[in-house]
Amino acid sequence: MSVERAEYLATGVNEIDDQHKELFRIINELLYACNQGKGKEEVNKTIQFLDYYIIQHFETEEKAMQKSGYQEYTSHRAQHAQFIKNLSDLKKEIELEGVGVNIVIKTNHLVVDWLVNHIRKTDIQLCANLKKRRSEHGTFMMLEQNQGG
Ligand SMILES: [Fe+2]
Repeated sequence: MSVERAEYLATGVNEIDDQHKELFRIINELLYACNQGKGKEEVNKTIQFLDYYIIQHFETEEKAMQKSGYQEYTSHRAQHAQFIKNLSDLKKEIELEGVGVNIVIKTNHLVVDWLVNHIRKTDIQLCANLKKRRSEHGTFMMLEQNQGG
């Protein structure tokens, strides 16, 4: 089993899609490892990746939302905050019990649920809005972040 990069998960905003592809890659590696009976060994790598990844990725999206005056900013950001909390809870569990089958399942669930529910719905909605702005203003607001705005 693997998570396909189905077209319906593409947002059409390249910078965000590229970051999402990284997430597909890491979850597929974990699922592959699980199929090989090596899920426990792979989970720490997945968690370390997520730790680093979400800071960069959520910042990209949140800046784009702020700069474009996106109306759903607060609720979208709340979903990011919830993911950060879920990841933090998972790390605490690992500290307490170590990595067992339970943790492997929870990690898989955390990421797959994120792909299906957040990327497919919330991110696609955001990116539709960014694309609309691009058609109106000729640019994605997010790409102007290094120009002093
Ligand atoms: Fe998002």
